[in-house]
Amino acid sequence: MRLLVAGGAGFIGSNYVRHRLRGHSDDSVVVLDKLTYAGRRENLAGLPDECLTVIAGDIADRDLVAAALSGCDAIVNFAAETHVDRSIASPGEFITTDVYGTYVLLEAAREAGIRHLQISTDEVYGSIEEGSFSESSPLDPSSPYSASKAGGDLIVQSFHRTYEAEVLVCRASNNYGPAQHPEKLIPLCILNALAKDLLPVYGDGQQVRNWLYVTDFCAAIDVILERGEAGQVYNVGGEDELANLDVVRRIIELCDRDESLISYVADRPGHDRRYSLGSERTRGLGWQPAVSFDDGLARTVEWYRENAEWWKPIRSGEYREYYERQYGRALRT
Ligand code: NAD
Ligand code: TYD
Repeated sequence: MRLLVAGGAGFIGSNYVRHRLRGHSDDSVVVLDKLTYAGRRENLAGLPDECLTVIAGDIADRDLVAAALSGCDAIVNFAAETHVDRSIASPGEFITTDVYGTYVLLEAAREAGIRHLQISTDEVYGSIEEGSFSESSPLDPSSPYSASKAGGDLIVQSFHRTYEAEVLVCRASNNYGPAQHPEKLIPLCILNALAKDLLPVYGDGQQVRNWLYVTDFCAAIDVILERGEAGQVYNVGGEDELANLDVVRRIIELCDRDESLISYVADRPGHDRRYSLGSERTRGLGWQPAVSFDDGLARTVEWYRENAEWWKPIRSGEYREYYERQYGRALRT
């Protein structure tokens, strides 16, 4: 199979390309990625050239998408602006990429008559106090990020209802693991803890997230791509639900630091209190998560300890300025 992996140079996309090529030795992958601050060729280092083509470009560019898609059997679309805090500061690019860019890919997939798997998020459902979201829960997004993702999902579903296009959506809970950009909670706290810097906790730190190790999500994507029913949505949630403060405390332990590093900062506007996904439909396809949060977090801390050459350039570039704007203090490196 030849796959077009849009956004394949980002965190989950690059882990997926690695996972896919390891498990399917006859496959080849075309990565189409704009290489924004979040996308890096380094994330695909070490993969065999004969199986991988990387094209730098925008999913909203029709001609480029058509050329990239030539000979492909399916699209997996990870490409998106993904950080809630950046979407609050500056929503425009989220709408352009996550909604319009998705539409351009969908049109190309429809013309080619191939499958399009849209990678989406539990955040489209909004916050839930008790119980878990199913695929038929109403969409109630809180941030410009989650609203843009919800818009993308709805367009995907409309392509099935209107044109009977071979499209599917999967909605994952919070992923973590190697090569996640340090703007996100877990890598931010690992790198700050290693640098003996403060760990910023929004509000009271009691917001709950449903954590999923990235390779478990990659395994679910393969199962959904191969066995999922066109037009359906598939939730992919991890087994562990934890309050942010508990996550931060575990990171402190794994990095041999103490709780004096915890710094409570102003809460995120519109902050969702709790996410929780019911994933029975995806489990029904034969998937289940294999990595516990304790194990996955220990592996992740180890990866960041051993891969300073991966994160040092990030912490000396655009991210430094972002960090100062977001947290009102300089990043210690
Ligand atoms: P990421 O920010 O690490 O990567 C996004 C990638 O998309 C980057 O490589 C970036 O360069 C690329 N990109 C951005 N705009 C583009 C454009 N216009 N054209 C082509 N490429 C573009 O994000 P991630 O965490 O790997 O998330 C991947 C997908 O999974 C996203 O769609 C996100 O909504 C979804 N998701 C993420 C999580 C999570 O916890 N990280 C959870 C559920 C769903
Ligand atoms: P994040 O990693 O940005 O993912 P998402 O917003 O998509 O869930 O944040 C995870 C949780 O951690 C979320 O409740 C916000 C919180 N958080 C902090 O408390 N401090 C921080 O500096 C960041 C980035 C996030």
